[in-house]
Amino acid sequence: RPHLSAHAMDGLLVEEVPLARIAREVGTPTWVYSAGALRRRARALQAALSGAGLHASIHYAVKANTSLAVLRVLAEEGLGADVVSEGEMLAARAAGIAAADIVFSGVGKTEAELRRALAEGIGQINLESAEEAATLSALAAGMGRTARVALRVNPDVDARTHAKITTGKSENKFGVVLDDAPALYRRLTELPGLEPVGVAVHIGSQITSGMAAYRGAYAKLADLVRALLADGLPVRHIDCGGGLGIPYRDEPAPLPEALAGAIAATLGPLGLPVMLEPGRWIAGPPGLLLASVVLQKQGRDRRFLVLDAAMNDLVRPAMYDAWHGILPVGGADLVAPVSPADVVGPVCETGDTFARGRALPSLQSGALVALLDAGAYGAVMSSTYNMRPLAAEVMVEGNRFAVIRERQAAEALLAGQRLPAWLGGGGS
Ligand code: LLP
Repeated sequence: RPHLSAHAMDGLLVEEVPLARIAREVGTPTWVYSAGALRRRARALQAALSGAGLHASIHYAVKANTSLAVLRVLAEEGLGADVVSEGEMLAARAAGIAAADIVFSGVGKTEAELRRALAEGIGQINLESAEEAATLSALAAGMGRTARVALRVNPDVDARTHAKITTGKSENKFGVVLDDAPALYRRLTELPGLEPVGVAVHIGSQITSGMAAYRGAYAKLADLVRALLADGLPVRHIDCGGGLGIPYRDEPAPLPEALAGAIAATLGPLGLPVMLEPGRWIAGPPGLLLASVVLQKQGRDRRFLVLDAAMNDLVRPAMYDAWHGILPVGGADLVAPVSPADVVGPVCETGDTFARGRALPSLQSGALVALLDAGAYGAVMSSTYNMRPLAAEVMVEGNRFAVIRERQAAEALLAGQRLPAWLGGGGS
């Protein structure tokens, strides 16, 4: 994490900005993203792909972090976007990503979303079923538009990641059955309003178990593409999905060069441009969640550090038993003697636990901690459970920082709510 450094006086810094300063000026809990790290990672991925001799484009999976400022940085680095909802499509457009550089994925796009994608001229819509193909064809023909579509296939491989984020097994809801793909792809060429341009896979997320699953999926995809081309069907490019894992703890995580090599070895001989849809690998390590210690309490057997951040902010530990590094932020705290502590939030359930038995110093009320590698699937998965407002978000670049999303006011949680007339509410 080259964007993080420790200083005896200033404590933990993101790039050149002490986190203590952000806490002082913006409060906590606050998400902090390093623009420099986002840029470095985007460039590293681009370099790995071109280094493997691939003609590749990166479509950042917006779901990982939808902040406009994050999207703008990645747009500046030349990345396109992979979106899964009308909201993500709007965010990508608002950040300055051209409609032509957007891919629309998802197993259940609504007619309203498809209509909007057609009106915007979205670059590619990834179809996941024959039913969706028929719907989109009717909509496009009715609007006098042509939708460029790719067919997402389910390669039936096991990405050996957490069950909740595995997507490429036949029992998962995603994609069309591989054996059905050739006939369906031909059908796409016949349906009005559709222009098939390629095929797509995405086998899962946080893949750290090596390249075997990727290679398996891409080899099946290569066979499919060869069969389609032999049938005289048009295939212009191949969408390789996302999923590249990051080391949250000390697990050996594959480097982008390994993924690029797997793509080159399997799909390279086809000589077609490839697309990649990484989310976590780009946005995860550059972000952290800055929180304050509310209090430290001693249970019978365990020491608890109760933070002002909770599972409603960062749900990954509660939802996937995910491990996130936790560092004290204060200069003295960074070198103080450590002992095991459970790091928890104030929400009224035991699942609101960020870490158990973590080696941390004694931290008093007001001390700061940073939950690391939280830039992807962090803020975007927040809720307001327990009527806790959404945390602020900050971007750092060099010695500058800016609030990129203001902290939600508690009052805002009441906005949009009404009492029915029979309970004393106004209006009809
Ligand atoms: N493409 C498609 C079609 C996807 O469904 C996803 C992620 C991606 C790309 C990006 O995958 P990535 O490169 O980020 O692994 N909330 C979970 C992760 C859910 C991933 C969903 N799909 C977590 O916090 O671990």
